[in-house]
Amino acid sequence: MTSSSDSTAAPAAPATPKAAAKDPWDLPDVSGLVVGVLGGTGEQGRGLAYRLAKAGQQVIIGSRAADRARDAAGEIGHGVEGADNAECARRSDVVIVAVPWDGHAKTLESLREELAGKLVVDCVNPLGFDKKGAYALKPEEGSAAEQAAALLPDSRVAAAFHHLSAVLLQDTSLEEIDTDVMVLGEERADVELVQALAGRIPGMRGVFAGRLRNAHQVESLVANLISVNRRYKAHAGLRVTDI
Ligand SMILES: NC(=O)c1ccc[n+]([C@@H]2O[C@H](COP(=O)([O-])OP(=O)(O)OC[C@H]3O[C@@H](n4cnc5c(N)ncnc54)[C@H](OP(=O)(O)O)[C@@H]3O)[C@@H](O)[C@H]2O)c1
Repeated sequence: MTSSSDSTAAPAAPATPKAAAKDPWDLPDVSGLVVGVLGGTGEQGRGLAYRLAKAGQQVIIGSRAADRARDAAGEIGHGVEGADNAECARRSDVVIVAVPWDGHAKTLESLREELAGKLVVDCVNPLGFDKKGAYALKPEEGSAAEQAAALLPDSRVAAAFHHLSAVLLQDTSLEEIDTDVMVLGEERADVELVQALAGRIPGMRGVFAGRLRNAHQVESLVANLISVNRRYKAHAGLRVTDI
């Protein structure tokens, strides 16, 4: 038996110095990236485009009709450009998907080539509505984000911006949007890029919230927020505490 005081024992190998843990709030500089918004003529797309462009990001909104996108871009201002969805995807580094769930699969399938090599950020909430209010749908792939990943094998897919109120985003009297943004994805670098993008909007913070297999809960939670909004006549957002 050897003990630490045994002089014949081989000297212990020097411990390899442990790399210092990375600060999770140390996020990349995304100010030079072009952000595209598919369905950017809609409520959510306009709101995100306005906030990101106001923060200094170059933004292109997409539409099924280029004219509609150009008109909406002119209304948003802050240098936002408009194009058809294909050109929007082609010219952007990061592409936010802000089309209704009904058009989600068809839109992405038709843009597979243009979206190849891009970071695609899905903010689509598959919801149904009936007399009782909003409820979560169950996409075959698990979530809208996982459907996007399945349809876009040559893109990197993340999910974020689900819980934002388009009304607040578009309210030009508000300087800040007081909320956290849950960001999901498979690659840390992609998630951090989206967190950084969210963080460009004053008041907003991007928080890592898991891999895409957990996107369903995040998308579904919007049904709960809609219930909150209806009861309290509000535009509720979320804050993650203790981080
Ligand atoms: N509204 C919110 O507060 C909010 C918040 C978080 C997330 N979201 C999500 O964001 C997405 C967009 O919501 P929204 O309220 O902005 O919707 P929206 O205004 O109804 O639609 C957005 C745009 O999508 C395009 N579009 C409509 N039907 C389409 C189809 N079948 N195929 C392809 N494009 C179509 C339209 O643009 P063109 O006609 O110009 O092509 C429309 O302006 C939804 O998936 C929603 O779950 C919304």
